[in-house]
Amino acid sequence: MLSQQDMLEAERHGRQVRSIYVYEAPVRLWHWINALALTVLAVTGYFIGQPPPTMPGEASDNFLFGYIRFAHFAAAYIFAVGILGRIYWAFVGNHHAKQIYLLPITNAQWWSEVFYELRWYLFIEKTPKKYVGHNPMAQLMMFFFFTLLATGMLFTGFALYGEGAGLGSWQDRLFGWVIPALGGSMQTHSLHRLGMWIMMTFVMMHVYAAIREDIMSRQSLISTMISGWRMFKD
Ligand code: HEM
Ligand code: HEM
Repeated sequence: MLSQQDMLEAERHGRQVRSIYVYEAPVRLWHWINALALTVLAVTGYFIGQPPPTMPGEASDNFLFGYIRFAHFAAAYIFAVGILGRIYWAFVGNHHAKQIYLLPITNAQWWSEVFYELRWYLFIEKTPKKYVGHNPMAQLMMFFFFTLLATGMLFTGFALYGEGAGLGSWQDRLFGWVIPALGGSMQTHSLHRLGMWIMMTFVMMHVYAAIREDIMSRQSLISTMISGWRMFKD
């Protein structure tokens, strides 16, 4: 298994290196479990906010909404435990495992590459740059539209959950303060829902970028999030 250091060393000796191990197993496993949990959260959350106006039959024969809320809360716990595990891995994992938590904002070269990537995505630049981990633009977007946003969804989600679990529950004691801080239950619901739409916008752009880069950037993307290895093409 080649580290980035080994690769640079090999290249210094004139050997061409075409693949490198980037994303460790916990990051990959987390990525796909998190994507599934988020899909369930977005679909069930959508219906929590826009419930079907009526259900046929006796009320006591129906538990559809109970199932929708149960699926939301079950996926929410998977999402929350996943995020905690992912934060742990940022401490013990490799350099790339830290990328979605730490932005090198004082590095001018990094910023210039953010804008290079922006021009590349806009089809202005014609030559793709190669990156072992996330490209600077992806890193910036993941930080704001995943890391920060997911934290906001956890805080607002558990605060709303605390309303149901009741005063004095751990959800209420840890996150209850979020509701008055945001101006009330209605505002917390609305912001939680707005967060869902922002997250879904990120997901659509993210999947588009992953497929586009897989085809255009001369390096593997989607298979890298499956196997862990980045392949470079000429
Ligand atoms: C990024 C992940 C999440 C998404 C996309 C999401 C989405 C949504 C949406 C769209 C709603 C409906 C809001 C409304 O219009 O009233 C909702 C409600 C809710 N969510 Fe989430 N949610 C997420 C994470 C969480 C988490 C981590 C929890 C924590 C347990 C949670 C708990 C709740 C609760 C308690 C409600 C209100 C249920 C009700 O009033 O019946 N959500 N969610
Ligand atoms: C709810 C859906 C999804 C979310 C929230 C999401 C989120 C993320 C996040 C946060 C990362 C950074 C991983 C890390 O460093 O820990 C990432 C990486 C990645 N995701 Fe997703 N993802 C989703 C779905 C998908 C899908 C469907 C694909 C495949 C088409 C995909 C392809 C990738 C790839 C290829 C990378 C690595 C990109 C690179 O090497 O720079 N993701 N994703």
